[in-house]
Amino acid sequence: MPFLSEQMNPEQRINELRELLHRHNYNYYIKNAPEISDMEFDALMRELQELETQYPQYDDENSPTRRVGSDLTKDFVQVQHKYPMLSLGNTYSKAEVAEFYERVKRSLNDEFEICCELKFDGTSISLTYVDGRLERAVTRGDGEKGDDVTANVKTIRTIPLLLTGDDYPREFEIRGEVLMPWEVFEELNRERAEREEPLFANPRNAASGTLKLQDSTIVAKRKLDAFLYYMLGDGLPADGHYENLQKAAQWGFKISDATRKCRTLDEVYEFIDYFDVARKNLPYATDGVVLKVNSLRQQRNLGYTSKSPRWAIAFKFQAERALTRLNEVTYQVGRTGVVTPVANLDPVQLSGTVVKRASLHNADIIEKLDLHIADMVYVEKGGEIIPKITGVDTDARFLIGEKVRFPSKCPVCGATLVRNDGEAAHYCPNDSECPPQIKGRIEHFVSRDAMNIDTIGPETVELLYNSGLIKNISDLYTLHANDLFFLPRMGTKSAENIISGIKESLSVPFERVLFALGIRYVGATVAKRLARAFINIEALMAADVNALIAVDEIGERIAGSVVDFFARESNRNLVSALQAAGVKMVLEDEVVEGRTDKLKGKSVVISGVFEHHSRDEYKSMIEMHGGKNVGSVSKATSFILAGANMGPAKLEKAQKLNVPLVGEDEFLKMLQD
Ligand code: IVH
Repeated sequence: MPFLSEQMNPEQRINELRELLHRHNYNYYIKNAPEISDMEFDALMRELQELETQYPQYDDENSPTRRVGSDLTKDFVQVQHKYPMLSLGNTYSKAEVAEFYERVKRSLNDEFEICCELKFDGTSISLTYVDGRLERAVTRGDGEKGDDVTANVKTIRTIPLLLTGDDYPREFEIRGEVLMPWEVFEELNRERAEREEPLFANPRNAASGTLKLQDSTIVAKRKLDAFLYYMLGDGLPADGHYENLQKAAQWGFKISDATRKCRTLDEVYEFIDYFDVARKNLPYATDGVVLKVNSLRQQRNLGYTSKSPRWAIAFKFQAERALTRLNEVTYQVGRTGVVTPVANLDPVQLSGTVVKRASLHNADIIEKLDLHIADMVYVEKGGEIIPKITGVDTDARFLIGEKVRFPSKCPVCGATLVRNDGEAAHYCPNDSECPPQIKGRIEHFVSRDAMNIDTIGPETVELLYNSGLIKNISDLYTLHANDLFFLPRMGTKSAENIISGIKESLSVPFERVLFALGIRYVGATVAKRLARAFINIEALMAADVNALIAVDEIGERIAGSVVDFFARESNRNLVSALQAAGVKMVLEDEVVEGRTDKLKGKSVVISGVFEHHSRDEYKSMIEMHGGKNVGSVSKATSFILAGANMGPAKLEKAQKLNVPLVGEDEFLKMLQD
């Protein structure tokens, strides 16, 4: 793929690769939004590694080759791994597998077995068990230390909290992969689409995003799963890795059946070939096969490089891809004005579905691909919901078509597009007149978690807008049933339903109205926080960036967006019109009443079982009194609202960090005083 010029001098190329890898590392680990495939990432990394070995004079201790990505999040307690969590070397061809096999054979100079397993595409986890109890669950982090996500992991049903049997070592670690099965992933994205929340690109991102949630009750609802594949510690039951896993299965761990001990290279190939086909019907994502020397003694003999074991390797499956013709690139304008290029393709069969359209993401990607109309392009699905174009078959270019150029004007309204510094997206700034933006905003306004006007769906919005009956959100409230009868396919009943749906929306609380306004970055949770902090729209409109960032969990990005929104006259007019129509622009009395600052600045962890109120009730009490409910104990925790049977790990951590425990009665008294 002609992404980069290969004719540069080595120093330039090394710098270019480092910059690229830093950026993709950030996209992958921090933003959870990779722009290139793992295979492309690995290829760039390898090229850099080779150049660095060849030209040590350009060494840099901050080179991307010096680190494994990090998923450290600031709100979790960080824990040092007893044994570092290394990654595996990747291979993409059987020839490379053969090289690995021969290398092992030469080094050991003895008979050996290879344990073949699936490479699960989730997020890795390290579990520590002491006396048969789950003590701690830690993410990989930077390989040296990870986040303590025990509370979240405990919600995963397939991870045993207590082991069965009595022949497990007193203390050991077991590692595995936390996964989100396809079915759960698809359902989650369906729900998110309905709520207009950003979709997860693939089950891996969904699983790692879920493990990092602060609220383990949400984690519990997400139905994660886990396979365990690696045991560490002293006094393990057997010398064989495979045999240890079988034992672990008896103790209650979920171990994959797709595990096989092989004695020859041909048997290894057989395993790979079989699962390259069979994986397509598995309920969860896999992206390859892991090959491990089975004997632990032999593993110790082979040892490690600085980054990965010499006794194991991953073979990555080719992402499924198809070659087809690019007919046209069209541009979609979303509700926030972002312009997304879409490739229209000759229909092609790919992993069980027919693909006609693929995302091109943004102008940079089009440029990098050097795309021309009529090009033969590679389309990949690779675990992602929307297929993407990953390359061009330049050899198939007989007659070169017109170069694809990202437009400088909005394809719908003609306004000059804008691109903010540091952002990849172009957007149309004409938010008050550009039809798809207006229609998108109305659709958002009526959606379930916003004003919940369920008698108006996207088709009705289209109809109302195209007929000229509504030009913006507030026009909804001036509609009469009589206006609607003239519309095609509109009966008396549906017209009346629409009007009554709009009327009912007048009782929707302020916090949801605020979400319904569609301010960029103000999702349902942020809207709730803002509504509670400012109580009415006037106070919110008068707030400057400083007043906004003083609110818990509101950062500069959100604050800036809120200020920008209300700085526009059209938005202020919209608010007045909605207010005049009777839409709620102030928090209800029962929410306002009883609000205090008694817990202001306090981070409170809720743990255990309670007598007087439910957990959810305690959670809203904490918020009502200005405090913040957090999921796990850290140095920053002010106190733990402790019920009966509080988890031993939390208790121990609280003692270690000197975090006070407050009982149920004491807590209620605190709020009364
Ligand atoms: S063994 C030292 N086995 O792949 C070896 N890893 O690049 C430890 N993975 O971080 C890993 N399936 O998240 C192993 N059957 C399997 C695996 C597996 C998926 C992941 C794991 C690891 C990464 C290695």
